Amino acid sequence: MCGIVGILGREPVAPALIDALKRLEYRGYDSAGVATLENGRLTRLRASGKLRNLQDKLKETPLSGHIGLGHTRWATHGRPNENNAHPHANDRVAVVHNGIIENFRELREELTAKGHVFATETDSEAVAHLVAEEMRQGSKPREAVAAALGRLKGAFALVFLFDGELDLLIGARRGSPLAVGWGDDGVYLGSDALALAPFAKEIAYLEEDDWVTLTREKTTFFDAAGRIVERARRPLQAGSLMVDKGNYRHYMAKEIHEQPEVVGRTLAHYLDLASGTARLPFDLAFDAKALSRVTISACGTAFYAGLVARYWLERFARLSVEIDIASEFRYREAPLPEGGLMIVVSQSGETADTLAALRYAKAHGQHVLSIVNVETSTIARESDTVAQTLAGPEIGVASTKAFTCQLAVFACLALALGRARGVLTEEREKELVAELIATPGLMAQVLKDEARIEPVARDVARASSVLYLGRGPSYPLALEGALKLKELSYIHAEGYAAGELKHGPIALIDFAMPVIVLAPHDASLEKTVSNLQEVAARGGHLILIGPESARVAASAELAGFIEMPEVAAGAFAALVYAVPAQLLAYHVAVFMGKDVDQPRNLAKSVTVE
Ligand code: F6R
Repeated sequence: MCGIVGILGREPVAPALIDALKRLEYRGYDSAGVATLENGRLTRLRASGKLRNLQDKLKETPLSGHIGLGHTRWATHGRPNENNAHPHANDRVAVVHNGIIENFRELREELTAKGHVFATETDSEAVAHLVAEEMRQGSKPREAVAAALGRLKGAFALVFLFDGELDLLIGARRGSPLAVGWGDDGVYLGSDALALAPFAKEIAYLEEDDWVTLTREKTTFFDAAGRIVERARRPLQAGSLMVDKGNYRHYMAKEIHEQPEVVGRTLAHYLDLASGTARLPFDLAFDAKALSRVTISACGTAFYAGLVARYWLERFARLSVEIDIASEFRYREAPLPEGGLMIVVSQSGETADTLAALRYAKAHGQHVLSIVNVETSTIARESDTVAQTLAGPEIGVASTKAFTCQLAVFACLALALGRARGVLTEEREKELVAELIATPGLMAQVLKDEARIEPVARDVARASSVLYLGRGPSYPLALEGALKLKELSYIHAEGYAAGELKHGPIALIDFAMPVIVLAPHDASLEKTVSNLQEVAARGGHLILIGPESARVAASAELAGFIEMPEVAAGAFAALVYAVPAQLLAYHVAVFMGKDVDQPRNLAKSVTVE
């Protein structure tokens, strides 16, 4: 994941930029760069590989500017080489970027037609040219950035440095975090508090869609509409930095909000964003064409990620999938096909039942691929192939960002297997990759409107039992939504396949029990809406999570409606719909005064049977 730092100092900033970048090394990177103003002119130094390569260059060509940017790049679009390293620059502006610019191809075409020459394969460079184009047409830096931000799609954090502007840095965030720091020697911007720790005494986080202008004397925050806003400054507590809660009340809230960034990062690891295809960072050590079946096993939320993946693996890779919870699978004595593929899923990588399922599969000649968040865990160590979810540390006991990152890995795997098996055309793969790439931006959009979930949460908090309904990949999501609600608020909840309702649970329907319907605009929408109407006809207490078209189609009285984007990632809508399900459970629990980060009786890592 890329790291960003910007400094407006009183001394030459290059040493402090390197210091900050070192503190961001833990995020992983493959190239690095800095830019400063030397005699007022933009000057850059970049190097592939480790930071010491950049430091060597700085020894040869010392930079003396008192204002600058630094970046560690974790390649998404384009190879990890010096040319693609940030900052990206032209004669007007230099920019560092974390995240994905979804519409970079259109922007690149448009700006190339206007005479801009692109020097890299990255999506980020389009931002530099977009701002330069605005300035060429007469805009000042602030106006140029404001106009450019309005044209960008995706999830990102950006920091800009301008030629000739010795007292101005501009930062912006949508989906990826960015913080401002104030210290004795200057003002700072950083992708996390850790980068700013040695310099800053106080810190403030940008909120979604904020942008900020920094001069040595004045910091001004703006919201998306360009209105000046205040953002709380608080002391930077050095000790607790790695697991800092940021601006959030709970780790869980922070982790829910990190999803656009970490899902983007995970997708970038498993997709070739430039060509729009799946690209696994490991070889498939088995003959994908000869594979007859995939077995998946996991526990809890990780199991539900596997259940969602079953739809994708069957549909896109034409593989039949056997899936079971690990505590059952390990004792079932299931016959497994010779040379088969076993996928285990685990955030912690230490779950005892999942580990036992892995060992059973290994003993029965399976190739074991694990989708894990903790790279050094026992499950990772004992697997033949490890597909890491790049969610970063998950502190909240209830799993959120690990779940969506598991989904992201599974989606890419399904596409890669589909291609390897010759059942997915290149064209279809590209369409599906485009849907996947849109998910971080859509998640950010949903997170931005978080306040509208609160009244629904207040309503749900009064219930003693709740039903979640969904079809297709939204069915496992209904199970996950119910699990989140149960574990956080201790309200009884169940997830059901919407079509199964009439085979029993419909008897439960009354106005006291909220029925939460997950209805993305996908192939099952019409059928889900019919099931919703069955509930409405019996006087049910309906809450719809879906697009406006679902609300119109339902034409039923709703006790609550969480409106979702009309087009939400097609086949991969589960990634986007996980967010309102998590937020709802979170707000119910907060409203009820429960211990959100450490619910009673639960442990983060379950190493016993
Ligand atoms: C629910 C939750 C648990 C875990 C389960 C498996 O929010 O966190 O259901 O998903 O205990 O844990 P891991 O993924 O570490 O194997």
